[in-house]
Amino acid sequence: MESINVPALITAVFLLLVLGAVLWYAARVAVPLPEAPAGPPTGALAMERKIIAIVAMLAAMALLFLGYGFREPARQVQAQEQQLDTSIDRGIGSFTTLCFPCHGEKGQGAIVPDSNPQRLAPALDRADLRPTDADTRTKEYDFIFKTIQRGRPGTPMPTWGQIDGGPLLDEQINELTLMIMNGDQQVDYEGKEGTPWQHTSDVITANVAAGLVQMPQQPDVTSQPFYQQLNAQQQQGVTVILQRGCGGCHTIPNIPGAAGTIGPNLGPHDNVPPVSQRPMIATYPNGTVPNNSVDDLSKWIMNPQALKPGTAMPTLGLSQDEATAAAAYLYSITTASQ
Ligand code: HEC
Ligand code: HEC
Repeated sequence: MESINVPALITAVFLLLVLGAVLWYAARVAVPLPEAPAGPPTGALAMERKIIAIVAMLAAMALLFLGYGFREPARQVQAQEQQLDTSIDRGIGSFTTLCFPCHGEKGQGAIVPDSNPQRLAPALDRADLRPTDADTRTKEYDFIFKTIQRGRPGTPMPTWGQIDGGPLLDEQINELTLMIMNGDQQVDYEGKEGTPWQHTSDVITANVAAGLVQMPQQPDVTSQPFYQQLNAQQQQGVTVILQRGCGGCHTIPNIPGAAGTIGPNLGPHDNVPPVSQRPMIATYPNGTVPNNSVDDLSKWIMNPQALKPGTAMPTLGLSQDEATAAAAYLYSITTASQ
C-alpha cells in the first residue's frame, strides 16, 4: 500500500546534501589556522561555528520530521486495516448467533425456519452487495445498514436496531454491514485466514457438530414431480434461481420459498400472464425491455442495469450460461401448466 512520496523524497535528498555540505565545511573550519593562537576559538571563528551548528541541527530536525512523514500514511493505512479486520470479526460473531438460521451458514440463503408457506431468505454473499466504486459503495452501505436496522416490515426480516426496539447497537449493525460488504476479502478469524463466509460456515458447522444449533435448511427440489419433468437446462435454471436467491424478491411458481414481493410475480396471477408471455418487461405491461425469447430474457437476467439503468433489479453477476438456464426455466412456465 505504501506509495513513494516524490516531493518528500526530493526534499530529503536536498536536506541530506545541505547536511553533508555543512559537515564538510565544519570539518575544514575545525582545523585551526597555522597562525591561530592555542585555546578556544574567539571572534568570527566562534560565530562561524555556532552558525554551522545551528544549520546542521535544523537540517537534521527537518530530516527527522520528513522520515516521520514517510512512515505516517503507511502506519495509518495499517491501523485502518486492523480496525476493519476487528469489525469484520465481530460481524462474524453476530451473524453466527443471529442471522444464519435464515440467511444460511455461509450466507448462501436458506429456508426461513417455521415459515409456512415456505419462504427463502436471500443470499447475502452476493457480489452486488459489495460494489467497488466509492459512490455505489456508500449507497450500498446505507441500504444494508438500514435494512438490518429497520428490518423489512411485512417480511420475516426482523428489526434489529435498538432505536426501533431491536437488540443491536448501531456499532454492531456497522460491523455486520462491513462483513457483508467485504464478503470476498481474506480476513483472520481466530488465527485462521479465509473469507468471512468461510469463517461463518466453520463456526456453524462446529456448533452443529456440538449439538448446539441446527444446520439451516436448504430447499430440496430434485425429488419433486415438476422438477423431474424439466429438461436438463431448465433443471439447471431451477438450481440457479435457488442459488441466486431470485425468490427472495420474486414469487416464482414451484420454486420452494420463492414468495418475494420486492419484484414482480413471475408466474401467472390475477390478469397477468407468466413472464414467458409478457412481450415487454420491467415492468409489464408498460415496460421498456423486449422479451420475446429465452435469449431476450437471459439478457435482462444477466444485466438488468444495462437495459434499464437504475432499475431496482440488481445485476447479480450470472454467467451467460446461468442466465440462459434461468430464462429457460421461466419460459417453461405457461398458463396451461398452472
Ligand atoms: C427470521 C429470518 C431472518 C433473520 C433471523 C434475519 N433475516 Fe435478513 N432477511 C430475511 C428475509 C426473509 C429477507 C428478505 C426480505 C424481503 O423480502 O424484502 C431478509 C433480507 C435481508 C437483507 C436485504 C437483502 C437484500 O438484498 O435486499 C439483509 C442485508 C439482511 N436480511 C441482513 C440480515 C442480518 C445481518 C441478519 C442478522 C442480524 C438477518 N438479516 C437476520 C430473513 C431474516
Ligand atoms: C433484490 C431483488 C431482486 C432479485 C434478487 C432479483 N430480482 Fe428480478 N426484479 C426485481 C425488481 C425490483 C424488478 C422490477 C424491475 C423494473 O421494473 O425496473 C425485477 C424484474 C424482473 C423480471 C421482469 C419481470 C416483469 O414482468 O417485468 C424478471 C424476469 C426477473 N426480475 C427475473 C429475476 C431472476 C431470474 C432473478 C435471479 C437470477 C432475479 N430476478 C433476482 C428485483 C429482484
